[in-house]
Amino acid sequence: MQIIELSSKMSSVAQLLRKERKTTGFVPTMGALHKGHLSLVEEAKKQCDIVIVSIFVNPTQFNDKNDLKNYPRDTKKDIELLKEVGCELLFLPDVKQIYPEPDNRTYDFGNLDKVMEGYYRPGHFNGVAQVVSRLFDIVKPDKAFFGEKDYQQLAIIREMTRKLNYDIEIVGVPTIREDDGLAMSSRNMLLTKEQRKKSTVIARTLFESYNFAKSKSIEETINFVVEKIDNVSGFNTEYFEIVDGDTLQRVNSWDQSGYIAGCIAVYAGDIRLIDNVIYKKEMS
Ligand code: PAF
Repeated sequence: MQIIELSSKMSSVAQLLRKERKTTGFVPTMGALHKGHLSLVEEAKKQCDIVIVSIFVNPTQFNDKNDLKNYPRDTKKDIELLKEVGCELLFLPDVKQIYPEPDNRTYDFGNLDKVMEGYYRPGHFNGVAQVVSRLFDIVKPDKAFFGEKDYQQLAIIREMTRKLNYDIEIVGVPTIREDDGLAMSSRNMLLTKEQRKKSTVIARTLFESYNFAKSKSIEETINFVVEKIDNVSGFNTEYFEIVDGDTLQRVNSWDQSGYIAGCIAVYAGDIRLIDNVIYKKEMS
């Protein structure tokens, strides 16, 4: 696996691949890789000739300095994992390579970046859009792969790609879960043993709510989820919203849309975990 630290070098290597008519699949990450990331690499390998992974902990998407400071980092282990899974190229830039100058670009994605994560983490998605567009400009991949666990992020990246006219196919990859259901996340490693044990309540409750919802209203389903999770000591739901899967607007009844998702953010102590469930997805 070739490791590239300079943006200029990354651009020229990617350009050469395009000249050779090799298709490239890009997996942007912030490191602390787990099986969820590796499943993105595996999907990219299936769909493209060459896989490029980036590891960059993007400061502009953290609205909390402590969160940035505490974000798990283990580049040595990440490199081993990427080699094992057969990644061809790793882009490992520092802040100066991505932001030679402060990035003042601001984006407006309508409702998509105002609700849920956008509401509770102001500026977060602007930072995500800044870094992903910068990475897209450098790598110019054919396809880019993102996890469905970050449901709202995926919707915003699709919208950004459309708005900024990138000729890049955005591929969403299903959430990978631990054996007990917890959605894989780099933040899971920050949980204490006790929090980790209790954290199964999140996925379990979302799965249970899928059946519960079949005979209950939206409001009843929201209350069911929030009450069950908040009943676990040390766990606090920041939001649980049932929304149209495309627009992320709240829905009031199950027949309001053919595509309905439930998105949740929960604090386990100081650690913030997100997950989602799809209640309904009709083929259009
Ligand atoms: O999902 C992530 O890990 C990050 O938000 C991303 C897309 C790599 C941008 O920094």
